[in-house]
Amino acid sequence: AETTGQAYAKGDVVVVAHRGASGLAPENTIAAFDLALELRADYLELDVQMSRDGHLVVIHDPSVNRTTNGRGLVRDKLLHELQQLDAGGRFSKEYTGERIPLLEEVLERYWGRIGLLIELKEPSLYPGMVEKTLDMVGRLERSDESAKSDEMYAEQVIIQSFDRDAIRSIREQMPDMATAVLIRSERKRMLAEDWEALAAYADYVNPHQSLVTARFVENAHAYNLKVIPWTVRKPSEARRLIHAGVDGLITDYP
Ligand code: G3P
Ligand code: CA
Repeated sequence: AETTGQAYAKGDVVVVAHRGASGLAPENTIAAFDLALELRADYLELDVQMSRDGHLVVIHDPSVNRTTNGRGLVRDKLLHELQQLDAGGRFSKEYTGERIPLLEEVLERYWGRIGLLIELKEPSLYPGMVEKTLDMVGRLERSDESAKSDEMYAEQVIIQSFDRDAIRSIREQMPDMATAVLIRSERKRMLAEDWEALAAYADYVNPHQSLVTARFVENAHAYNLKVIPWTVRKPSEARRLIHAGVDGLITDYP
């Protein structure tokens, strides 16, 4: 994809609000996303799972246990059951009443106001997840007349995943979509062939911050890949990463 510009970047380093401003409000809720917007983040990061009846919902874990007042797996529940759960009270009483948002609702609410870094969680578990996401994003793109002539437009949405097959398939189905591959901290060394493979279908490589050195960033940039590490929670971490030359930070405290 053409990723010449960072449409939503206000500075050199893109600030991405991890699950929204999740250090300050319940993760992956409208409250956390609104707060990130208020704090002038450049992007919202959000996690997508699928309900039993095939709706894409914004929640990090495969189960609802940690973040809501319910129990059980997201994929075993119908949308209307998921929407009855409280997704705010466990974080703090003042957020009681927050719901698990639909991906569609988040796209519609924030499109054109802030960038969206959409993480597809376990796309191999959820048949149709990739296609449904692309359909939804495609529909919003088509309805957004103002963006059609904007060369930075592709950056409204970036889709990321740990699942490289899913990212490869996105590149095939929608070549203009900006894509990112997530890399876990256990990954020890990146070899030339790893960089080459990634560069064939991704625009970003988003590693755990422990993997990031100036050398890592130089390598990524040599392959035309931008680097946005996660999850930054301390100013000292941010300083180290910025010094290493990263393109952005995924942080709980935008
Ligand atoms: O954006 C990267 C980061 O969100 C990946 O880890 O577990 O917070 O989704 P996780
Ligand atoms: Ca995530």
